[in-house]
Amino acid sequence: MCGIVGILGKSAAAPRILESLKRLEYRGYDSAGIATLDGGELTRCRAPGKLENLSAKLGQTPLAGNSGIGHTRWATHGEPTEANAHPHMTDRIAIVHNGIIENFRSLKAELLDTGTKFEGETDTEVVAHLLTRYLSEGLAPKDAFHKTLGRLEGAFALCVLIKGEQNMMFGAREGSPLVVGLGDGENYLGSDAMALASLSNRLIYLEEGDWAQLSREAVQVYDAAGKAVTRPITISQVAATMVDKGNHRHFMQKEIFEQPTVVAQALGRYLDPNKGKVRLPDMPFELATVPKITLVACGTSYYAALVARYWIEKIARVPVDVDIASEYRYRDPVYVDGGLALFISQSGETADTLAALRHAKAAGQHIGVLVNVMGSTMAREADVILPIHAGPEIGVASTKAFTCQLSVLAAFAINLAAAKGQINDEQEDAYVSELETAPKLMAQVLHHDEKLQDIARSIAHARDVLFVGRGIHFPIAMEGALKLKEISYIHAEGYAAGELKHGPIALIDENVPVIGIAPNDDLIDKTVSNLQEIMARQGKVILLSDNAESEAEGMFARFEMPTAGELVAPIIYAIPVQLLAYYAAVEKGTDVDQPRNLAKSVTVE
Ligand code: G6P
Repeated sequence: MCGIVGILGKSAAAPRILESLKRLEYRGYDSAGIATLDGGELTRCRAPGKLENLSAKLGQTPLAGNSGIGHTRWATHGEPTEANAHPHMTDRIAIVHNGIIENFRSLKAELLDTGTKFEGETDTEVVAHLLTRYLSEGLAPKDAFHKTLGRLEGAFALCVLIKGEQNMMFGAREGSPLVVGLGDGENYLGSDAMALASLSNRLIYLEEGDWAQLSREAVQVYDAAGKAVTRPITISQVAATMVDKGNHRHFMQKEIFEQPTVVAQALGRYLDPNKGKVRLPDMPFELATVPKITLVACGTSYYAALVARYWIEKIARVPVDVDIASEYRYRDPVYVDGGLALFISQSGETADTLAALRHAKAAGQHIGVLVNVMGSTMAREADVILPIHAGPEIGVASTKAFTCQLSVLAAFAINLAAAKGQINDEQEDAYVSELETAPKLMAQVLHHDEKLQDIARSIAHARDVLFVGRGIHFPIAMEGALKLKEISYIHAEGYAAGELKHGPIALIDENVPVIGIAPNDDLIDKTVSNLQEIMARQGKVILLSDNAESEAEGMFARFEMPTAGELVAPIIYAIPVQLLAYYAAVEKGTDVDQPRNLAKSVTVE
């Protein structure tokens, strides 16, 4: 998944494209590049690695021209070298691409047969040469572009400039998002509203199969069959100002410390404390009649779904299936009539989650989404949107989006329970009051972060770390392990504490730190027993708990947590595991906000 942007403008395009690419680095940072049309000739600058490398190169050799296209890459086909960086160019065209051309091998073989020479290994280069071939055969640019699209299989968003055509740009969308931005005597293309935020707030979201021809004065959208179509103009709410780190060293740190504020904001949208009720957006179906809930997501959002299953089943007594999005549609799930499928995604663009959404929609399920980005594809395809109100999350490792997802899911579980008659007004009021304590308790945990910093130093050079928890805290253990892997590159696993003795305990020795998540609930004695088993084998146990008596002789460290109820506990226990990962990564000196090999929005399957 990559970020793309195109400008047909009235002033130098390259600096403006660079500015837009900065907003798109969350989609990948393996390489970046820009191509412009300067006096009708195509020129280009590309650099491997982060955008700052491209920026430095452009500082030395600027690109002139008022039309241009740019790209920030997350490598799929071919290493992140300069040769594989976009834009790809032939003697006729320049192209940027997000997504995967699945039939690129057969197309490449066909082109090789007719003598085409390839520079790199990317699937995109195949599209560049195919379009060039059709142009060389004498087709008009519009027809050549449409014919090229007809040959492609897979998921892609494309943006194309043609040599000699200074007032023409093409874009196409199939599976990967692409947005047209409307300017004043200028027009633009971009991966999302964020890419275009500094250029325009008047947007046309292309639909699947759509493609567009742009000039400075006009935009014409066509459907896959080539028929001219009109798509609505939306006014974007995305702010043009770039989010900064404030006084923090990293975005991730800022986002961790912002959690009490954003969770309070999110809860403020869903809770009515005066009435002791949860308010959800209007739904085009009766929540009370929903027989089953399916939760589907990837990564950290998947762990939010696992936590929510406990709440929904326990409080609302509605059966819940939870699935990893990339697996979901391949296991041929059994749909129950009238079921609600809820897709959880910070970005609202994750390709696997989107594909799962479409699968459930085609099967007639009610579709709900929990997203942070309101204009996202998932938000636009859902029956019901539950925004998480976390504000822009820049750090690749998700933190505040996770706790906001949990907060909204807890509110949803309460509302569902009330709709189903599983709880009365008094119980609903009690749950609402409990949930309202989350921000205050989160702030208390953050207040003692220096203790976690000390503990993190002691695990930063471990080879393996285990996180264990029981019940609703088992997913928090998995989230802790994921955070540590993502940003500190330490191998970590999250286990159900009781499962350790069925294999993983063989890993335990004096070099293996084990983080035990053990709030003072019904399961604490069992969790602590499991931790004793680890200590008996010299494991280095680090306990996160609000139960003072749980500290046992031989424990390596203990972090005192505030006491919280069953709805709030997983939300606040997310914080120490985030901070342990953060401080371990800082200790190791890794790139915390943009860890290697990752991207924030994963728009390929
Ligand atoms: C990527 C990110 C993770 C995120 C996952 C799902 O892998 O690195 O932090 O949890 O995608 O993203 P989503 O936007 O769907 O929540």
